[in-house]
Amino acid sequence: MFELYLDTADIGQISRFSACLPVRGITTNPSILARANTGLAALLPGVAEVLGEKARLHVQVVSENADAMLAEAISLRKLPYNIVVKVPATEAGFTAIRKMKAQHIPVLATAIYSVQQGFLAALCGADYLAPYVNRIDATGADGIGVVADLQALIDRHQFPARLLPASFKNTQQVLGVLRAGVSALTLPAEIAEEMLAHPAVQPAVDRFTHDWHTFFGQTLPHDS
Ligand code: G3P
Repeated sequence: MFELYLDTADIGQISRFSACLPVRGITTNPSILARANTGLAALLPGVAEVLGEKARLHVQVVSENADAMLAEAISLRKLPYNIVVKVPATEAGFTAIRKMKAQHIPVLATAIYSVQQGFLAALCGADYLAPYVNRIDATGADGIGVVADLQALIDRHQFPARLLPASFKNTQQVLGVLRAGVSALTLPAEIAEEMLAHPAVQPAVDRFTHDWHTFFGQTLPHDS
C-alpha cells in the first residue's frame, strides 16, 4: 500500500491536505521544526488530532554519536505516538540503526545522496530510506536516477526497506520517483499544492458549470 507523507510541521497545511488526500503521516527534520518554531510537545498532539492516532510520524534524532542517537530513539518511542526514528545515514548513523533494529525500533535512514549509501542503510536494516532528490540534483548528480537504481537494488535483494524520497522542488521530480516504482514519498506543501492545481483543470470545471447553468438554471442534475 502506497504511503503518502507531508514534509511539514505546518498544522494548517497538514489539515488542508489530509482532508483531500489519504495522508499516512508527516516527516520532519530539525530544520523543519526550527523553521516552524515548534517542538514536538506542541506539534504532535495537534498532528495526531488531525491525522488520527495511527498516523506515522517521522522524527529525526540530533545527537552525533550512535549511543546518544539510540538513547534519543528510545525516548522518542516512549512518546504516545507512532514514531519512526529518522537517523542520518552516516557512519555513526549506521551504527545507531543497527543498534535500533536490534531493539525493533522503526527507523528511517535520512540524508541519502547516493545509491551506495542507501544500499548500506538498507543492509543495516533501515525500514525506510530517504534519498534527497532535489539536493542530489543540486550537486550535479541525478536524483531520480539515484532513486531508480536504489529501488532496483532493493527489489533485487528483496530488502524490506521502503524508499521514501524527500526534497522535491518540482512535480517532475515527483513523477520521476513514482515511475521508478517507489511505494512512499513525502511532499512539501507547495509541491502538494502544485500537484492539485494543473492550470487547465479549473477552466475545464468552470466551463462545465457555465454550460449547465446556462441551459438548466439552478436545477441540479438529479432533478433535470
Ligand atoms: O526531509 C528531508 C527534506 O525535508 C529535505 O528537503 O527541501 O530541505 O531539500 P529540502
